[in-house]
Amino acid sequence: MSGIVLYKSKYGATKQYAGWIAGETGFDCMEIDKAKMEDIKQYDTIIFGGGVYASGISGLSFLKKNISQFEGKKVVVFCVGASPYDEKAFDELVARNMKDSLADLPCFYCRGAFDMDAMTFVDRNLCRMLQKSIAKKNPEEWEVWEKALMEAGNGKCDWTDKSFIDQILDIL
Ligand SMILES: Cc1cc2nc3c(=O)[nH]c(=O)nc-3n(C[C@H](O)[C@H](O)[C@H](O)COP(=O)(O)O)c2cc1C
Repeated sequence: MSGIVLYKSKYGATKQYAGWIAGETGFDCMEIDKAKMEDIKQYDTIIFGGGVYASGISGLSFLKKNISQFEGKKVVVFCVGASPYDEKAFDELVARNMKDSLADLPCFYCRGAFDMDAMTFVDRNLCRMLQKSIAKKNPEEWEVWEKALMEAGNGKCDWTDKSFIDQILDIL
């Protein structure tokens, strides 16, 4: 079985998971922006991973655009966010992102990292603005991702854990 792991990662956690999956499967591994369709088409299995930013899974547009060309192949998606896994929140994330032609694809969650210092100016400001608005709400009503963002504060957190890839390896 031949396969490739394609990823879109801004701060490295998704890249880390893609590398772990490639290491365990022997699949090739490539940043999605560098991948060419004629090369990807050669593989039987395509695993796609994208970071979660403002409730959106990055890089999915590539998959949406090309999904018809992947007919007959095994396509698996994973996404990487700062929130701890929560079934309801994950179902909402999947419903929001895995629509139409992507709706039948298996999608998994892996927990990533959060480091304000490593962020771009725009992302850092966005996260600070989010933290300010979350702080105004009742903490008992915070969503899981809001809680994680508040707990991370200005600090550096790394929740990446290789065992998250077991669920993906299991369905291959
Ligand atoms: C601007 C911004 C928005 C984010 N929004 C979310 C979010 O909605 N949900 C979540 O779980 N994590 C969110 N995160 C955290 C990222 O998903 C986390 O840092 C993840 O590790 C990113 O993947 P990467 O390291 O491959 O870039 C956000 C991070 C940034 C910088």
